[in-house]
Amino acid sequence: MFYNPAMAGDRDLAVALARARFGADTRRSSGWEVAAATGVRGLRLLHESAAFKSFFLTEANDEAAQVLARNAARFPGATTEQRDGRVPPTTGPFDYVDVDPYGTPAPFVAGAIGAVRPGGVLAVTATDMMVLAGVQRGACERRYAARPIRGRLSPEGGLRILLAYLAREARLQGRSVRPLLSYTRDHHVRAFVEVNIAVAAADPVDVIEPETWGGPSVGDQGPYGPLWLGPLFNGDLVGELSLPPSAARVKETETFLVRLREESDADVPFYYESNRLAGELRLRVPPSLPSLLGALRGKGYRAARTHARPEGFRTDAPRPVVETVARSFEPS
Ligand SMILES: C[S@@+](CC[C@H](N)C(=O)[O-])C[C@H]1O[C@@H](n2cnc3c(N)ncnc32)[C@H](O)[C@@H]1O
Repeated sequence: MFYNPAMAGDRDLAVALARARFGADTRRSSGWEVAAATGVRGLRLLHESAAFKSFFLTEANDEAAQVLARNAARFPGATTEQRDGRVPPTTGPFDYVDVDPYGTPAPFVAGAIGAVRPGGVLAVTATDMMVLAGVQRGACERRYAARPIRGRLSPEGGLRILLAYLAREARLQGRSVRPLLSYTRDHHVRAFVEVNIAVAAADPVDVIEPETWGGPSVGDQGPYGPLWLGPLFNGDLVGELSLPPSAARVKETETFLVRLREESDADVPFYYESNRLAGELRLRVPPSLPSLLGALRGKGYRAARTHARPEGFRTDAPRPVVETVARSFEPS
């Protein structure tokens, strides 16, 4: 039976998002968890956010579906069904749909997008990081129709490939997606996106050509993508996220939320790391993160730490400015 305690902090974030987005203690919204296993994710959302009136949980495996039904029986508003989550139920559409399967979410995405009410939220986890982060490049091209980034920026590259994939699948159904909160964490990536009737504006999805790319080094094996190159966060919503009273990982979730709030002020694609910059510029001493952030902000640029790496920072400063600032701290 699948139950992963390492995802407890991840579920805390889902509860925080549901409370902020749908209103804690409103009990108005409807949800569907597509591949629910024991039901811990959907049932926590139903019970702890109190934003949902009803939550439907589906699970294909025989044994898991029986455990799911027993667990859900204790929670008013929860209903379960043993079924293939790739096929949306007729009881939709839902305000919130959560796709948290093993490995790739790709087989579930089309059905899930179609099952979200316009203005609702789709949450998607991908754990196939060998594929999304480029160890299995051919598989990434086949599964997501995108060329992955290798190296330290590869998890964020994978997240941006997933977002581009969601955007493409949504367009096929006359819909569009806009990220509310998307992040890389441990060995997975996760995106919460708002789903709407397609907007006329094109999606910020593009290929990165290393020769013309002006941001942090992504390697020279490009072109990379197509990648989502728009924001990862809806800054207003991220500003409203708060630690759920029921959080299972209090310290971890609080720290993560603080970091996301800071990061949403400099929500640009990819991040620099001081020691990597120092290596690329042949500096003797990597500049400290606070001094780099302070100097960039002092020049009027946005700059913030990122959840993706403890020593990473995002900035909208052009790369030559970042390099000049980094060099300015080199002891003479
Ligand atoms: C990673 S687990 C789900 C974990 C759960 N979301 C949580 O937070 O604990 C994936 C589950 O998807 C189920 N599954 C696999 N294929 C499925 C399908 N086509 N439809 C519904 N469930 C499926 C598996 O049996 C397994 O229990």
